[in-house]
Order: sequence, then structure tokens, then C-alpha cells
Amino acid sequence: MDVTSAIAGRASVRGYRSDEVPQEKLHAVLEAGRRAPSWMNIQPWHFILVRDSELKTLLQEVCLGQKHVGGAPACVLIFGDLAAWDPPRFKKHLVGLFTARGAADPEAAAQERLVDPAYSPTAAGEEAVLARTLEQIGIAEGFMTLEAENQGLGCCVLGAIGNELTGAAAESYAKLRERLGVPEGACLVSVLTLGFPKEKPAPTRRKAFNEVISAERFGSPLI
Ligand SMILES: Cc1cc2nc3c(=O)[nH]c(=O)nc-3n(C[C@H](O)[C@H](O)[C@H](O)COP(=O)(O)O)c2cc1C
Repeated sequence: MDVTSAIAGRASVRGYRSDEVPQEKLHAVLEAGRRAPSWMNIQPWHFILVRDSELKTLLQEVCLGQKHVGGAPACVLIFGDLAAWDPPRFKKHLVGLFTARGAADPEAAAQERLVDPAYSPTAAGEEAVLARTLEQIGIAEGFMTLEAENQGLGCCVLGAIGNELTGAAAESYAKLRERLGVPEGACLVSVLTLGFPKEKPAPTRRKAFNEVISAERFGSPLI
């Protein structure tokens, strides 16, 4: 399937067949997330594949009872690695990046970026760290949704969940974190349900092209 067809043909799937999803299809979806681009290639994410039914029951509680969680043969839990931006870790990463790019003084180049709010979310403040992490995850999850379509799978992105941001389902979320051994600095940002669709839904409507796209000037239509 080409990318254009995957984009045009996909729609969120909330009803799944009970058959297991072959490992290689799940692997392909996860690999698409792993291959996503990110800010200075920092890759501030961790993905946990969950198929165990007891874990899915707990996860459904964390997802505010959304039934397609328990009903999906597999779920990918997408964690933001907020600690990836912590200065010592981020600096080490930047030194590696600049070394690979052949910079004359990788240490100095990394230090310069580290204190510049335009390059370092930590230097810009806590909100920037969160915003930048979510930005990277959105791209990775977008890649996964397209690969799911390519693999003939249905999926649904779930953002209505309990986590550090929403404070919802606090008890279940704490239990889930413990069960999964989630380290400090990692935060559940999203859940992607996956499975073979019971029915393939038609693509949903979008705003008109010229409502969201302009040429040269805001509101000026692209003819
Ligand atoms: C960040 C994000 C969070 C979402 N959260 C949920 C959710 O919690 N539950 C759900 O059933 N669908 C959720 N959706 C799916 C949207 O409702 C869906 O993508 C949107 O209505 C467009 O429909 P389509 O995906 O079929 O094109 C979410 C989608 C995104 C991108």
C-alpha cells in the first residue's frame, strides 16, 4: 500500500475481531514508531506492547472504561520520556550527535545548544519539555497508525486516559505504572488499540481544504 492510500483510507477502528494479530504485523507497527523523526533525534519515547488480558482490564480502567481497550487483541502504551531532556542526559546525547556530524568541538556545540531555549526545552521551562515531548510522540504515533493501515489492521489513538496530565483514574494509573515497572520521568501519553477490524469504517469528514490551508497569506486560498 502506498502512503497516500493509507492516509486517505484510514479511519479509527473501535470494534475488533478476537483473532490474535501476528507478531510480525505488531512488530511492523512498533518499528514505524521507532523510525519516526524527532527533535535532534532525541527519541523521547518508550512503547510497551500489551496483550495480556488482565493487564488490558487494568488498562481499560486507566482509559476511563473505553471498551475498545479490553476488546482489542493488542494495545501499544506510548510513554513520553520527559527525563530525556534532563541537562546531563540531553548534553550527552547532543555531544554524540555533534560528534557524528563531525563538529570541530562537539562538547562546545552541545553546551551552546543546552542553554539556548530555542534548542533546549529544559532551558525554555517545564511547559516546553512537556510540549516538545508530546510533539515528538504525535509524529511517532502518526507513523504507527499509517503502518497499521498498511498491515491491514485497525487502530484507535486514545488520549482520554488517566496520567500525570489529567490526574484521572489516579489509583488505576498508579497500579498500572507499578505493574509495568515504569521508571520515574516516563509518562503515559497515549494508548493505541490494535487488531483486525470487525468492520472497516469509512474515512471521516475533514474541514474543507481552503478552510485549513492558505497560500502566501492566512486565509488566502490556494487555487
Ligand atoms: C490525540 C488523539 C486522542 C484521541 N483520543 C481518543 C479517545 O480517547 N478515544 C477514542 O475513542 N478516540 C480517540 N481519538 C480518535 C479521534 O476521535 C478520531 O481520530 C477523530 O474523530 C477523527 O476520526 P478518524 O480517526 O476516524 O479519522 C483520538 C485521536 C487523537 C489524534
